[in-house]
Parts: sequence; structure tokens; C-alpha cells
Amino acid sequence: MSDCPVTGLTYLEKRDLESSWRKLIGTTPREFKNAGINLVLWMFDNIPNMRGRFTKFQANNTRSNLVADEMFLAHTQSVILAIDSIIKMLDNPSKLKVKLQSLVKSHVGQTPPIGSEYFEPFAARFHVFLVAALGVPEDSDEVAAWTKFLYALCSLVKVEEDAQRKVAKATAQQGAPCCWIL
Ligand code: HEM
Repeated sequence: MSDCPVTGLTYLEKRDLESSWRKLIGTTPREFKNAGINLVLWMFDNIPNMRGRFTKFQANNTRSNLVADEMFLAHTQSVILAIDSIIKMLDNPSKLKVKLQSLVKSHVGQTPPIGSEYFEPFAARFHVFLVAALGVPEDSDEVAAWTKFLYALCSLVKVEEDAQRKVAKATAQQGAPCCWIL
């Protein structure tokens, strides 16, 4: 079987992502909900300045206040559901591409953009979360597959950042007074 044209993941890496994801989300709705909360709380603690980007809830609050905040809980479920649907699309590259591009655009399109400065630390540190949550060794196939997948996501983030930079440049040139080019 050929590698995924969107992520570069091999057949076995995709299976590693699926099996480790199943372990992370558990089997009951309660475990799924808790997995979302734990993941986002971990992201807040490990991605520099991430908390500062939230406006609908007070992300600098303590854990106990956050888990009592409906808006925070809603966000954690958006994140875990988004990853869950991505995992379910791993064998459908065209759907996967649309989903990942839409996720990337909705972040890089924010003002100021939520881009590489956030997604790269996520990719670089996610192994710490996996080792703690799954009890797998740092050099396990599961950890390697997630790191590869998250860096593939970072590549899509960079493509979108470049595209937005080009649009911003073209817009600035269109709006520039004629004396600028003299
Ligand atoms: C794989 C990683 C991530 C996933 C799956 C994810 C998922 C989502 C989803 C589903 C939403 C809501 C709908 C949307 O706008 O698309 C969202 C919103 C948001 N995400 Fe992410 N996200 C991820 C990474 C990040 C990172 C690294 C940051 C860093 C700052 C971030 C910050 C935000 C913010 C500020 C919002 C808007 C929240 C709001 O309006 O209340 N996300 N994310």
C-alpha cells in the first residue's frame, strides 16, 4: 500500500495512530470527554502563549475553574471531536486533505494568525503527553507516528501561512500610493 499523499504516513503508521487514539479516548462518553479536557489542559501547559489566544473563556484560570467553565468544556470537545474525525479519515486522503486544510485555515486565518509558533511546539512536545497517557516508551512506533503526523500538519500550516503572506503582500501593493514605486 502506498503512503498517504497528504501526510506521508505509511499503512502501519496509520494503524498505530488509530490504535493509540482508541486507547487515549477510552470506551465510554465520559472517558472521551475527559480525554478532551486532559489534552487541552496539557496543550495550555506546553504550548507557549496558547492560553492568551482565547477570548470566550478565561484560559489563565486554574484547572478547577476551567473544568467548571462550560465554554472551556465546549472547546475541549471541539478539539477532541476534530481529531477523532481526522483519525477516521486516515484512509481517505481526499476527505482528509479538505478537513486538515479547513482546520489549518480556521487557525492561520485568525488575527493575529495561530500558526507555526503554536503548532510546532505542539508537534515537538506531544510525545511527552503520549508517554504519560499511554505508558508507551518514547521511542515507540505510536510516538513516532504521532510526531510524523503532527509535523505533516505543521507543513500544511506553513503552506497556509505562505499563501496568506502572498495575499497580504498583493493587497498592500494594490493599495500602495503610486509614489511608492517611483
Ligand atoms: C491538532 C491541533 C488542534 C485542533 C484539532 C484544534 C481544533 C480546534 C477546533 C475544532 C476549533 C473550533 C472550530 C474551528 O475554528 O475550527 C478550534 C478553535 C480554536 N483553536 Fe484550535 N485546534 C488545534 C490546535 C490549536 C493550537 C495549537 C492553538 C494555539 C493557540 C489553538 C487555538 C485555538 C483558538 C484560539 C480557537 C478559537 C476558540 C474560540 O473561538 O473559542 N488551536 N480549534
